[in-house]
Amino acid sequence: MKKKIAVFASGSGSNFEAIAKACLKDRINAEVVLCVCDHPGAGVTQRAKRLNISVLELVPKSYSSKAEYEGVILRELKKLGVEFICLAGYMRIVGETLLNEYEGKIINIHPSLLPSFPGVDAIGQALNYGVKVFGITVHYVDQTLDGGKIISQAAIPYDGNDREELEAMIHPREHVLYVSTLKSLLG
Ligand code: GRF
Repeated sequence: MKKKIAVFASGSGSNFEAIAKACLKDRINAEVVLCVCDHPGAGVTQRAKRLNISVLELVPKSYSSKAEYEGVILRELKKLGVEFICLAGYMRIVGETLLNEYEGKIINIHPSLLPSFPGVDAIGQALNYGVKVFGITVHYVDQTLDGGKIISQAAIPYDGNDREELEAMIHPREHVLYVSTLKSLLG
């Protein structure tokens, strides 16, 4: 039985697309049944529509609390039978409404070798620090900011200052690591 997964994203959605396509090609024993996006109109929504994947677009500030916002998401996840959640550029801390139901079944990808450089603009933080080995991490999500248990990592040596060049090295590696990690978790 294919596991039903949802991918949460706020931006361009290249990781979403890599995961969805790997599922469609049966490289992961899973099916992406929902894309959750907290920025209506973000690039990820176009990618989802092209792949015929349902999108739940929400405006968080139109809800009176995080619990109310996540309650709407939770109802949709339950309705669709979602068993596993991937965060892929989802720019929000997951709250207890979702964690109570899915802890241990929510993972995230972060563009640094955690625990170094959690939070926003990890690549910029690392560049400012002058690190020579960059990287990516897939980890379980808990109530902390990028602090859950690490599942997999990849190191990317880079001795330079060109952010675009570095990002062009990091992003394709993210897609590969996210897909291979999901394969190891879900079969
Ligand atoms: C990726 O760098 C990911 O590691 C981070 O947000 C970015 C999302 O990129 N959490 P994309 O929207 O998947 O292209």
